[in-house]
Amino acid sequence: MKVFVLNGPNLGRLGTREPAVYGSTTHADLVAMCERAGRELGVDVEVRQTDFEGEMVQWLHEAADRNVPVVLNAGAWTHYSVAVRDAAAQLNADLIELHISNVHKREPFRHTSYLSDIATGVIAGLGVAGYPLAIRWLAEHARS
Ligand code: DQA
Repeated sequence: MKVFVLNGPNLGRLGTREPAVYGSTTHADLVAMCERAGRELGVDVEVRQTDFEGEMVQWLHEAADRNVPVVLNAGAWTHYSVAVRDAAAQLNADLIELHISNVHKREPFRHTSYLSDIATGVIAGLGVAGYPLAIRWLAEHARS
């Protein structure tokens, strides 16, 4: 089984970016953590990160065409991007919306999500530990 972990804008700067909010784990550490979880669960995990909205839209098209479940941290796009939502809505397999921080106890503009109502589920506020949890859930519950 294949799983895409797709990270949006600014997440490539994990480790140095606002560590009080996002922690000290780097994106490279996060990739290693996800791949390790995949190995343990027998899941082929592919982690990608982009700062470009069109690239994310194309990755979601690819996931839709290949029937691959997605763990999506869309970063700021979560809160305003109809394009990312429309691409995510085309997925046939499960979508897990993920946030490292608890967006609901942050600024009001982060309380809106263009993804939550089309996601299978949402993980927020568990730090980078949310990623292996999402991968585990998909390994155990994936519907395709
Ligand atoms: C985030 C939360 C978003 O509000 C923010 O724009 C991000 C990261 C998180 O992982 O907590 O870039 O998605």
